[in-house]
Amino acid sequence: MMYNIFVTRDIPDEGLKMLRANKRVRLEVYEKDRAIPRRELLRRVRGADIILSILTERMDAAVFNAAGSQLKMVANYAVGFDNVDLTEAKRRGIVVTNTPGALISESVAEHTIALMFALAHRICEGDRYTRAGKYKAWGPKLLLGTDFFGKTVGIIGTGRIGAGVVKRLHDGFNMHILYNDLQRNPELEQATNAKYRTLNDVLAQSDFVSLHVPLLPSTHHLIGAKQFKMMKPTAFLVNTARGPIVDETALLRALRDKKIAGAGLDVYECEPLIDCHPRDALALRRMHNVVLTPHTASATEQTRQEMSRIAAKNILAFLQNKQPPNAVI
Ligand code: DGY
Repeated sequence: MMYNIFVTRDIPDEGLKMLRANKRVRLEVYEKDRAIPRRELLRRVRGADIILSILTERMDAAVFNAAGSQLKMVANYAVGFDNVDLTEAKRRGIVVTNTPGALISESVAEHTIALMFALAHRICEGDRYTRAGKYKAWGPKLLLGTDFFGKTVGIIGTGRIGAGVVKRLHDGFNMHILYNDLQRNPELEQATNAKYRTLNDVLAQSDFVSLHVPLLPSTHHLIGAKQFKMMKPTAFLVNTARGPIVDETALLRALRDKKIAGAGLDVYECEPLIDCHPRDALALRRMHNVVLTPHTASATEQTRQEMSRIAAKNILAFLQNKQPPNAVI
């Protein structure tokens, strides 16, 4: 039997090569380097047995209907899978996989720390200042930031990525670590002396708060007005997980009211919009104490190829009637 696989956007090639090498696979890749328009997606998935999707495409009942009842699998090219309607997929017996891996955890952990550094040492502000030709003479009070040394970092979620951030900050900078998760992580506690605390205590006692939980109904707006009030006015928030975990309206208010010192964001509540608020569409972009990246925490050559290989391995396992290594349902 031949399997039709539709790839919703061109991805780094190693996984695609693995799939093309399989004689039972007929591969079609959306050819343009941009997100596929919804109508085109609905047209192009028709007849697919497997969809290799990326996180910008909603994989929901409309897509499953458009594909047809032969659709067996959605292989999502991301660790997160909040773009896939799991309830609907489960109801129809569609297998869903994601792409967690050692490299992606490294990349996102590094990027998280890069955002922390950028905030603490005011790297982006310094860059803008210097490029603008404003640097005329060394100044003892010029762009004063803050050190990592002796500070406390609060990690919300200690899966592979959160634990990777903890390990680096402990080993490299000797920071104090507080964490919150659904359950305690004894291994992490032993390796890094991390202390388990309630979410409120982590927020109240940390100088940096970094989010590493998946987006679920239970984590939607996990950080909102009430939580910002608990944080130190000198604290920084970093989000490389998913935008809607933070109530962005509350974040804007907290930044304006100086309830926190700054934020490093790789993800946004209304992504790809940077601000959801039509009346205040440039608010985040105008703030000097905010560092913004375009959902690129995992964007390294190595990691994006690894994700491609993992997606392919999941599909190839499925074709051999084996349990895909990263089945989420
Ligand atoms: C993921 O994998 O979920 C990231 O957000 C993109 O790599």
